[in-house]
Amino acid sequence: MSVKTSLRASAHRTYTNIVKAEGLCVSFGKVQALTDIDLAIGRNEIVGLIGDNGAGKSTLIKALTGVVRPSSGRLYIRDELVDLGRYSVRRAHALRFETVYQEKSLGEKQPLWRNFFVGRQIVNRLGFINVREQRRIANEILQSHLGFRSLGIDANSTVSNLSGGERQGIAIGRAMHFDADLLVLDEPTTALAIKEVRKVLDFVRWIKESGRAAIYIEHNLAHVHALADRLVVLDRGRIVADIRPMEMDLEELARFLISLQHPHSGIAA
Ligand SMILES: Nc1ncnc2c1ncn2[C@@H]1O[C@H](COP(=O)(O)OP(=O)(O)OP(=O)(O)O)[C@@H](O)[C@H]1O
Ligand SMILES: [Mg+2]
Repeated sequence: MSVKTSLRASAHRTYTNIVKAEGLCVSFGKVQALTDIDLAIGRNEIVGLIGDNGAGKSTLIKALTGVVRPSSGRLYIRDELVDLGRYSVRRAHALRFETVYQEKSLGEKQPLWRNFFVGRQIVNRLGFINVREQRRIANEILQSHLGFRSLGIDANSTVSNLSGGERQGIAIGRAMHFDADLLVLDEPTTALAIKEVRKVLDFVRWIKESGRAAIYIEHNLAHVHALADRLVVLDRGRIVADIRPMEMDLEELARFLISLQHPHSGIAA
């Protein structure tokens, strides 16, 4: 499906929230990583998730995308209650959730055309992978959606030859191609050069413009403050703020985050 077609499809979706968590808790053995999470993400909202290392950000998106199973609470997708016992990454894919994980999300030694179709190979009638079709679609994504034409990257390029920003772009482009309604990005700009960061931020804007939603973990406060419709702050497994950027300027936000680290230092939130 082309981006144009999927744009039209997005415009007609009728749910209020793409995803909503109510009282969600996640534990790993004795570690309670998330406690009583209430969070709703609207159909065309970019939500920035911030908080200290270990605050529970990655765990939260893993719970929303079927990677980890919550110990209690409720999850709604497109306003419908999800059976948590049967929720999985595969199910989340089928529901058009796509995740670009903090860990490497693309296989290093694979050519791009193979990479685009991990977990969802196109096969012919005999069950063999349809290499030609996968190459054709990969080239289409690269050229028409990602504008990579001039950079000498094509479907046969190996992932290890790409810059960090290009990798993130390709992971996002793949998600767009599969017509994701929710994009989940775990620190997409970490360790990237400034030019690359800009590319990734442009991709995030593109998500918004195409009528989709995103939940986006970012350590750079200036970026997330400029880009997100809403900012959700996690601290030791709990949501401690859920605001619109206009309600708190960048400096106030930074002070608030510092006050979480030093609760007794007298620094005001
Ligand atoms: N698979 C796991 N097994 C045990 N504990 C885990 C597991 N995953 C996360 N944790 C713990 O849960 C807590 C939250 O971790 P999480 O990875 O969600 O933090 P984060 O906010 O994404 O941090 P960072 O900014 O460093 O990526 C931490 O205490 C972490 O050690
Ligand atoms: Mg993390």
